[in-house]
Amino acid sequence: MTIAVTTPTGHVGSRVVRLLLQAGVRPRVLVRDPARLDADTRARVDVRRGDLTDGTYVREATAGARTVFWVDPTPHTHPEPIDTSERTGAHIAAAARSGDVARVVLLSSIGAERRHGAGHVDGLARIEEQLDASGADVLHLRCGYFFSNLLLDLDGLARGVLTTPFDPGMPMAWVDPRDIGDVVAARLLNDDWHGRTVQAVHGPEDLTFAGVAGILTEALGRTIRLETVSEDALRAQLRDAGLPSGAVEGIVGMSAGMRGLVPEQPRDLLTTTPTSLGAWAYETLRPLLAVRA
Ligand SMILES: NC(=O)c1ccc[n+]([C@@H]2O[C@H](COP(=O)([O-])OP(=O)(O)OC[C@H]3O[C@@H](n4cnc5c(N)ncnc54)[C@H](OP(=O)(O)O)[C@@H]3O)[C@@H](O)[C@H]2O)c1
Repeated sequence: MTIAVTTPTGHVGSRVVRLLLQAGVRPRVLVRDPARLDADTRARVDVRRGDLTDGTYVREATAGARTVFWVDPTPHTHPEPIDTSERTGAHIAAAARSGDVARVVLLSSIGAERRHGAGHVDGLARIEEQLDASGADVLHLRCGYFFSNLLLDLDGLARGVLTTPFDPGMPMAWVDPRDIGDVVAARLLNDDWHGRTVQAVHGPEDLTFAGVAGILTEALGRTIRLETVSEDALRAQLRDAGLPSGAVEGIVGMSAGMRGLVPEQPRDLLTTTPTSLGAWAYETLRPLLAVRA
């Protein structure tokens, strides 16, 4: 039962690989640069080197794998994020359609159920649809807002400011990507699910951005003040930073698309994961900010 893992150097993928190794499995990993895997891991996996946007590579590297963990690698900064996600996802969908791959676990997102109007998340919806039509067994893991998104604005947090375009009072699912990796690995190792399945990964509790600022203040031992920006102000900031208009709309659309969204999958035993934001911030964020002090 060969298991293939994409983005083994990412927040989620690296956790998946670690757990598969600990389960006694030798996974196949699809990686751009094997040197980015630590030497211990490299020695225990079958490396297929290449770029996920290359269809020929994806077909060859996944051929014969019973199960594939697929992560869309399209950066939010891409000038055509949604179409690019769709085109890249078409490679794994083709492998699934042809029977080269029997099962796919997709790292998807809350908001993909909207299908349209959630910015770059619409690209994940396109991948879900392509996989659904492939005839393979597919599991879409619709994940909440990753704790690791906070790592994208360390400068702001170091200044004591958390900036967001989201409504500060809107509760949202926030999740540790490592806990997502746990769910992915468990699903990859279970050979008994079939058909089309959707499961959410919601983290331990829904949080508002106002609440997040309070949790960070406590965990980091410094005051973190919330600053909200309007979508227009965010647009202007992203344009000033040199992002093309497609990327700007993909990013702004993600926050607009979450407004008023009630996730299709409710919070329950299966969707709730253990790590709290406070624990993650203390362990991961605090040391990163301490070296900037
Ligand atoms: N952030 C959120 O709140 C959120 C919520 C729901 C879903 N998601 C989804 O989660 C995914 C990101 O997961 P993550 O945070 O674990 O990833 P990550 O830590 O941001 O890492 C990105 C990974 O993608 C790889 N990669 C980038 N471009 C590639 C290419 N062209 N070919 C092959 N590999 C490539 C990188 O490899 P290198 O080491 O070579 O750079 C790295 O392993 C995205 O698909 C996103 O849509 C995110």
